[in-house]
Amino acid sequence: MTQKHLAVFVSGTGTLLEAIIDSGLPIDLVIADRPCKAIEIARKRNIKTVILERTDFSKSFDRKLYSQKLFDIVTQYNINVIAMAGFMTILSVDFFKNYKGVIINSHPSLLPDFKGHNAVEQALSAGIKKTGCTIHRATAKVDTGEVLAQAEVDILATDTKETLHERIKQKERALYPRVLRSILK
Ligand code: GRF
Repeated sequence: MTQKHLAVFVSGTGTLLEAIIDSGLPIDLVIADRPCKAIEIARKRNIKTVILERTDFSKSFDRKLYSQKLFDIVTQYNINVIAMAGFMTILSVDFFKNYKGVIINSHPSLLPDFKGHNAVEQALSAGIKKTGCTIHRATAKVDTGEVLAQAEVDILATDTKETLHERIKQKERALYPRVLRSILK
């Protein structure tokens, strides 16, 4: 059986990454698209890190080239499972073709509801009682792909985007390592 080599892609505060590390799962590499707290966490925990910095956030961003560079790095490290943990750059169709079925993502809503970067705000303004998180196989279409696990979170009348997101992230931090463990088996 081929040995599994996991890379975690990050951009933000890294609490999901930290939960994955704390669960004891072996991480070969952490890659960020910008300097961020998540990359500092990885360094402190002695995990190999690469920052492939994205400098262009305009419409002319060369997604293909960026994804190609990222692909070159992950292949160099023999990565065969990728966990996105708050990674904020959308990758090219080719990248997903090359890693078909083995890119996993955690999203802060009950997909297919509320896709996109502002899923928590969308749930709040929808005036509903429940939202949650979804762990799914990622595809080139943002926030679509086979759902692997979901957990519900109640929306409270007093919730702000921050309080609700934090309770969703608590569920993500419990669920994501469990799903990844079953994939890495
Ligand atoms: C999580 O809610 C994840 O679903 C979303 O970004 C957040 C990452 O949080 N894509 P953190 O950077 O791991 O704290």
